[in-house]
Amino acid sequence: MTLKSRVKEIKEKGLRNPFVNYLKEKLRHVRVQYKILGLVGVLVLLLSSMIVWQMGNILTNNLRDQLDKRAVSIGSDVAARATNELLINNAYAVYELLQNTLKNNEDVLYIFVVDPQGNVLAHTFGEAFPKELLKANAVPGTDKYHLTAFRTEVGIVRDVAVPILNGKLGVARVGMEENGLQKAVLQMTWNLLLIALFVSALGIVAAVLLTRVLTQPIRELVSLTQRVTQGELDVQGMVHSQDEIGVLTEAFNQMTVSLSQNYREREDLMVELREKEEMRLQLLEKVMTAQEEERKRISRELHDETSQALTSLMVGLKVLESEASFCAVGDRLQEMRQTVAQTLEEVHHLARELRPSVLDDMGLVPALERYLREYETKFGTEIDFHVIGFQEHRVSPAIEVALYRIVQEALTNVAKYAEASMVSILLDWRAGWVSAIVEDNGQGFDPNQTVTQPGRGLGLFGMQERAALLGGTFKIESQKRIGTTVFIKIPDKGNLFSGITPAEV
Ligand SMILES: Nc1ncnc2c1ncn2[C@@H]1O[C@H](COP(=O)(O)OP(=O)(O)O)[C@@H](O)[C@H]1O
Ligand SMILES: [Mg+2]
Repeated sequence: MTLKSRVKEIKEKGLRNPFVNYLKEKLRHVRVQYKILGLVGVLVLLLSSMIVWQMGNILTNNLRDQLDKRAVSIGSDVAARATNELLINNAYAVYELLQNTLKNNEDVLYIFVVDPQGNVLAHTFGEAFPKELLKANAVPGTDKYHLTAFRTEVGIVRDVAVPILNGKLGVARVGMEENGLQKAVLQMTWNLLLIALFVSALGIVAAVLLTRVLTQPIRELVSLTQRVTQGELDVQGMVHSQDEIGVLTEAFNQMTVSLSQNYREREDLMVELREKEEMRLQLLEKVMTAQEEERKRISRELHDETSQALTSLMVGLKVLESEASFCAVGDRLQEMRQTVAQTLEEVHHLARELRPSVLDDMGLVPALERYLREYETKFGTEIDFHVIGFQEHRVSPAIEVALYRIVQEALTNVAKYAEASMVSILLDWRAGWVSAIVEDNGQGFDPNQTVTQPGRGLGLFGMQERAALLGGTFKIESQKRIGTTVFIKIPDKGNLFSGITPAEV
């Protein structure tokens, strides 16, 4: 795998390291406040420990330098002052010198003088002189002194060797203890640590306050956003500053303004739509009522006027037929009478089709029974008609007309499209509801496919509208090669569709 593709993979999948991924995942849920606090805390801790460490180093080096200088100065002093005493071989005076020097310098551990052969001439150890000290330090060549440090059971010792009279009389050795220095450094470190702690605490308090100040407006915005989600659209955030958060708040405010404006416009449109829908329903109701009234009027006219006229014509023809002397005239009159009888039958049929008076006079069930009988003879389809709960009960005329027309349209569709051999119709009335089901065993269709040709598809829509006008529901289920079922359910709560009244005759 090339480096390029590996980099691409890492960019896409994120870091492979599971620990880093785990950390990233954990950090995702940490509040911004704590993230800033953590960062400040870690930085302050790092910075203060670096300062303490660095200061400790500087101080240690400084104090060590001073200690060394003092050791050299004491060593040189002892060497200078011992020169005369050594020249006159006054060992006791040298001893006195060493004792006095030891007494006057608290941090001097020991002093001793050795002759050029390495024999100890005087020392401050009391009885036993530690021999290993002799080899611990020496002055190489013509140096003025030599410094060294070593660890002993009393701590680190800084030892200086100073030659006496250029080494001709021997070497003066002074040992200084470093403990005092270490104590001073420790003391200073503690002090610095305390200061660092104090500064860290101050830093953290400042960070807490700062993050409060920074995250407060964000929290405010979050709660405002939640209110907007709950539908309170006219909320506005307070702009405290002109930084990014201020800009965000302003953008939020603009958003809520345009949201509530959109919402108001939508509400206005909804009100307009509702008003239009109301008007459409009223118009539809009027159109349907007018249509029914007109059908009723024409039907009655056909029945009362035209049928009457045709009947009298038939009677007249019969009289003429009996009075006719010529055979040919009698035959002709009989033919005419038959034509009139046929026309009368057609007029009756037409009148019934337009508006069966039996619907107004006897009610829905007898009207449907009659319609179904004619349908069966006309189309040859077997019809299974069940009625539940209609004994001694008539629903309101509006529902009767609606259900009659819906069943009529459903059956017209069956005749037109279904090629069914059988249709079942169920009319069911129970407390507060009337329902009708028309089921055929025809070839079915896909109800979700809308009919696109103009003028078509209005039948189903009309059924739905008729049901909806009366507060009812309409549903159609269909499956290819199995059949189609139409369900209508209408609440029977009195005369809702008052425009249609039963015929007077
Ligand atoms: N019982 C049925 N069986 C098969 N197809 C049907 C049936 N009822 C309706 N359809 C289909 O639904 C379409 C819409 O019916 P409809 O709304 O009454 O309009 P139209 O009768 O004017 O075509 C019909 O064109 C027909 O394809
Ligand atoms: Mg139709």
